Amino acid sequence: MDALAGPGYVAIPNYAGAQTVLGLRSARDRRQRLGQFRPAAVGGGINRAARPNIRGDSIAWVDHPVGEVETSFFARLEQLRVASNRSLMAGLESLEMHFASFPSGSGYARHIDQSPMGVDRVLSVIYYLNPDWQLGDGGELAIDTTDGTVLIKPIADTLVVFLSEKFAHQVLPAVRERHSMAGWFLRRPMGRLG
Ligand code: OGA
Ligand code: MN
Repeated sequence: MDALAGPGYVAIPNYAGAQTVLGLRSARDRRQRLGQFRPAAVGGGINRAARPNIRGDSIAWVDHPVGEVETSFFARLEQLRVASNRSLMAGLESLEMHFASFPSGSGYARHIDQSPMGVDRVLSVIYYLNPDWQLGDGGELAIDTTDGTVLIKPIADTLVVFLSEKFAHQVLPAVRERHSMAGWFLRRPMGRLG
């Protein structure tokens, strides 16, 4: 909370433990087998389309957590929501979250997180699912800050949290497939427009 109130971003290693990483990787694989992954789209309205040169990942939205691991992971993130509201008066009301997998060689060009649907994304959270990530594998999250660019490696069990409006960021290409969960705490409940 101090980091969010100060610089506005934080990377937390060893957030939920190796078992959670393995469990969420299995959950991810299951959702892939069930055909839930789609190429991610960029842009809003009539311009909305998959543009793999801008954004190369495929994503599977978690509308409802399924099974013990997803459920307990969401419960943990709920603690973050409550703590943010208590210490930062953030007014966070809900969480939208997806699994994301970037094929080797793909990334996500510099952007600011926002939804075309008018919901207010306040806090961005990314949780990495890459055991054995090696130096030189690439795939860093590069966050532009007033102190320069901060590089965060997508190492398993690291949770990154940042103020959605404040930081432009990009995902650098990796030399292997790169798995994560990405989510946003919203100021308004989902399903309500405008
Ligand atoms: C995003 C994003 C960062 C990452 O999905 O909007 O910026 O490190 N992801 O995967
Ligand atoms: Mn982003």
